[in-house]
Amino acid sequence: MALGTVKFIGETGRWQMQHPLPMDDTLFQHWREMLEARIGISLPQERKSFLVTSLAVRMREVGCENYADYLELLESGRNGAVEWEILVDRLTVHETRFCRDQQALLLVEQEVQRRLPKNPDEPVKLDFWSVGCATGEEPYSLAITVEHFLQSVDRPGLYSVMATDISRASLASAREGVFHRNRLKNMPVELLRTYFKPYDLDHYQLVKRIRDRVCFTRLNLINLDANRIGGMDVIFCQNVLIYFRRERRVEIVNRLVDHLRPGGVLILGAGELVNWNHPALVPIVNEEVIAYRREQEEDAVL
Ligand SMILES: C[S@@+](CC[C@H](N)C(=O)[O-])C[C@H]1O[C@@H](n2cnc3c(N)ncnc32)[C@H](O)[C@@H]1O
Repeated sequence: MALGTVKFIGETGRWQMQHPLPMDDTLFQHWREMLEARIGISLPQERKSFLVTSLAVRMREVGCENYADYLELLESGRNGAVEWEILVDRLTVHETRFCRDQQALLLVEQEVQRRLPKNPDEPVKLDFWSVGCATGEEPYSLAITVEHFLQSVDRPGLYSVMATDISRASLASAREGVFHRNRLKNMPVELLRTYFKPYDLDHYQLVKRIRDRVCFTRLNLINLDANRIGGMDVIFCQNVLIYFRRERRVEIVNRLVDHLRPGGVLILGAGELVNWNHPALVPIVNEEVIAYRREQEEDAVL
């Protein structure tokens, strides 16, 4: 398939197909290394056309006619930093939807139930973290699951969801809490009616009491050490690790474990990190979900 973008050529008054600039192996390798150092993602050969096309679109938007000019822009102080933000957003995959992994959400519900205090008036206190939250469907699904469960058993809860991602554009969209109906296809009708209001013909808006439970923050997973993150009871990390090399996946998940409170649960996506174990964790027996619990007797870092 010919890859190209369409450009309006003022002098001719016509739209013309523009072909992306060719990228030789040395330059491709340079881009791969830069992206890996900056955001950790590892770009396989098969993704070269995606890189070339994405760069072509962005270079045209900023008026750069060759890679050297664009690389210079990326290196140019504050403007370069802003440009990196935009490029990172273009080169990362933000595919997501509500209730994407229903079995994992069921496990979360069971976890909340397990932690309900004996005294029915005492609120259950829980902190969740959605790692690589994209446009918010995952953390909001977590908040809805917890809220709905607590309502159903008529118990009070003090809970919050920290939602982090590298893409500022995704986070901005997430904060709005407005979603196209296609993203809500997995959402049970009862939950849709309870927690969303029609926004326009194709969109729904999440009710404020759920939006208020979720705090969106920019965080680059390869700089986890540089961030102050509190202890978490449930860490949900799905469909993110796949973009990293195995060694990097292991580093990231080991750091996530440091942020798990004793007794806390780490939930990963199926097949994202095989043959991995951690001395502080025991696997949770569940045929459908990859999850681990941090042992209680472990000396807590947090
Ligand atoms: C496919 S989405 C997954 C969304 C959600 N977890 C889900 O399963 O539906 C992957 C997200 O990981 C984010 N991401 C990629 N590299 C990252 C990094 N280095 N630090 C933080 N987030 C990153 C992307 O911006 C993207 O929003």
